[in-house]
Amino acid sequence: MNEEGYVEEVSRQVLSHPRYQHLEPGLVRALVRQELRKGRSPREIVKTVRSKLHQVAASYLERPIDYSAWLERLRTLPRDRQHPQVKAFCLEMMRLHASTRERLPYLEPFYQQVLAPVGQIHSLLDLASGLNPLATPWLPLAPDAQVVAWEIFADMVDFLNHFFTHLGIRGRAEQRDLSMTLPEQPFQVVFLLKTLPCLEQLDKTLSRRLLESIPADYLLVSFPTYSLGGRRKGMRVNYAQRFEQLVADKPWSVWRFDFPTELAFLVRKGGR
Ligand SMILES: C[S@@+](CC[C@H](N)C(=O)[O-])C[C@H]1O[C@@H](n2cnc3c(N)ncnc32)[C@H](O)[C@@H]1O
Repeated sequence: MNEEGYVEEVSRQVLSHPRYQHLEPGLVRALVRQELRKGRSPREIVKTVRSKLHQVAASYLERPIDYSAWLERLRTLPRDRQHPQVKAFCLEMMRLHASTRERLPYLEPFYQQVLAPVGQIHSLLDLASGLNPLATPWLPLAPDAQVVAWEIFADMVDFLNHFFTHLGIRGRAEQRDLSMTLPEQPFQVVFLLKTLPCLEQLDKTLSRRLLESIPADYLLVSFPTYSLGGRRKGMRVNYAQRFEQLVADKPWSVWRFDFPTELAFLVRKGGR
C-alpha cells in the first residue's frame, strides 16, 4: 500500500469510533501523517490521534449529542429568537458542550459587557464555535446581520444550519479546520472564544497567525480560567501574560474583562 493509501486506511480506523466519526477528515489525516513520520505502528497512531482529538474536541461533549431529537424539538419552536421558549431551548442545549455550559451563569452580562464597545453587530464569524451560536438571542445583532460559524464536527455544523434557518438568521455553519484554513473574508466581529489553547495543541504558531491575519474590526478572544477537570492552576495569570505578549507590538486597542471561569479580551484592530 502506498503512503496515502495507508494514511486513508488508518484515518478510517480513527473515524470508526462514534465519538470521532463526525470530525473533519482532513484534520484526522494530517494528524495521522504526523504520527506516521514518527515511525509509529497503526495501533499506536490510532490511539495517539484519538487522544489528540479527544483533547481538542470530543472532551467538551460528555456524550455524543442526539441531534435528531433536538432537531425535532427545534421544529416545534416559534421562529422568534427572543421568544422565551426559544431562549429556554438554547440555554438547555448549550449545557451539552462544556465551554458554553461554563458560560451560562454569566451569559447575559458576558455579552453585554464584552460587546459594549462594538454596538450593533452587522457581521459575525464565530471560530471553533462549539454550540455558542445558540447564544445568538443574547447578542446585539442587527436585524439583517450575517452570522457564520466554523466547527470541525459535521453533525454540529448541520444542526447549527437548521437552527439558523428555523430562526430566520442570515447565517451558515461550515465544517472547517482552523489548522488548515484561516479566514480571509472580512467580518465586523470575530469570536475566538476559549479556542487558542486548544488550537495550540495542534500547532504552536496558530494563535499568532490567527490574531495577525484575521480581517476583522473587532476580535473577541477568551481563555478558560479552569481546566475541564475543575482545577485552577494559575491559568488566568498565565493566559493573560501570554495574550499580552501576543499583542504587545500591535497598534490595537485592547479591553480586558474578567468573568468567573473565563478571561476575555476585546481587540479593536481597525475599521469603523
Ligand atoms: C474550548 S471549545 C470552545 C467552544 C466555543 N468557542 C465556546 O467558547 O463556547 C473549543 C472548540 O474548538 C473546536 N475545535 C478544535 N479544534 C479545531 C480546529 N482545528 N478547527 C476548528 N475548530 C476546532 C472543538 O470542537 C471545540 O468545540
